[in-house]
Amino acid sequence: MRINPYLCTVKANELVRRILYPRANPDENRMSKAFANSWVVVTGASRGIGEALVRRLIASHANLFLIARDEAKLQALCAEAREAGCEARYCALDLRNRERLDLLCQQLRETLSRVDYLFCNAGKSIHRDILDAQDRMHDFDRTMDLNYRAHVALTLALLPQLSESRGHILYTSSVSTLYPPAPGWSAYHASKCAANTWYETARTEWKRRGICVQVAYLPLVHTGMADVNPAYRNLPGYSADEAACQLLGLSLTRRFSYKPWWAHLSAPVANLFSPIVKLFY
Ligand SMILES: NC(=O)c1ccc[n+]([C@@H]2O[C@H](COP(=O)([O-])OP(=O)(O)OC[C@H]3O[C@@H](n4cnc5c(N)ncnc54)[C@H](OP(=O)(O)O)[C@@H]3O)[C@@H](O)[C@H]2O)c1
Repeated sequence: MRINPYLCTVKANELVRRILYPRANPDENRMSKAFANSWVVVTGASRGIGEALVRRLIASHANLFLIARDEAKLQALCAEAREAGCEARYCALDLRNRERLDLLCQQLRETLSRVDYLFCNAGKSIHRDILDAQDRMHDFDRTMDLNYRAHVALTLALLPQLSESRGHILYTSSVSTLYPPAPGWSAYHASKCAANTWYETARTEWKRRGICVQVAYLPLVHTGMADVNPAYRNLPGYSADEAACQLLGLSLTRRFSYKPWWAHLSAPVANLFSPIVKLFY
């Protein structure tokens, strides 16, 4: 019998993917019980993980408030939600625009009497060495404004409603922030780590109020964000829908975080031996 090396490689890759990236299939009954008729706010809803999340939430009959810049996409998703019997509203804006963000916060406070889940998911990544960003202070402002500041502002604005419903706030972070800082990712990691720290603090402070703050440290997900980098396109990773299922799986619990199983083990070891890891970098 002849062995086809191409097929063997494909099968080996798929096996590695399944082991490193096991699927989470949130139970449909639990999903409906948690989300039907609830109000859910999603940032970064227009594409990638956010869009997949919205589709799952529509299937669970959640009412939605969607946020991103692409108005046509948000309109289409709202139409899809209404067709499925959900209430749906949207706001199209650049979350880095502080005046527009203030107006959105005011709109959310005045128009949403109830919020059960806030998915802080919009994000931007930049890979650039610091020396190449000497005249690009905007790299640092933009990542900080979107990945950190906008979500802090939205969380503060929705605090009364989330407190009332003893709701969930879920921040989409990155598993890479659990390891020693890698070259090229200063802007992205600094902004994500700032948000990690803020949400971790909020979790401790708001436990008494019944609000559940959660952080999902996602690994590689094949969306527009990751796949602009050719080096990532062929690496094993989650699809947007699989990542959305991990976020939803976490939101059905009151655990603090989701991390891939291998990060529980390898991140503490990498930090312990960080001088050696940095030599590899
Ligand atoms: N992909 C990965 O490998 C990976 C891994 C770990 C964590 N994450 C995190 O997962 C989250 C979602 O990422 P993704 O992979 O789904 O990326 P994506 O496909 O690029 O989607 C990003 C989302 O954020 C919105 N957004 C971007 N800039 C915005 C702005 N200035 N104002 C308002 N909305 C904005 C985009 O909508 P518009 O363009 O319409 O505004 C889009 O809906 C991010 O927080 C990211 O850091 C991703």
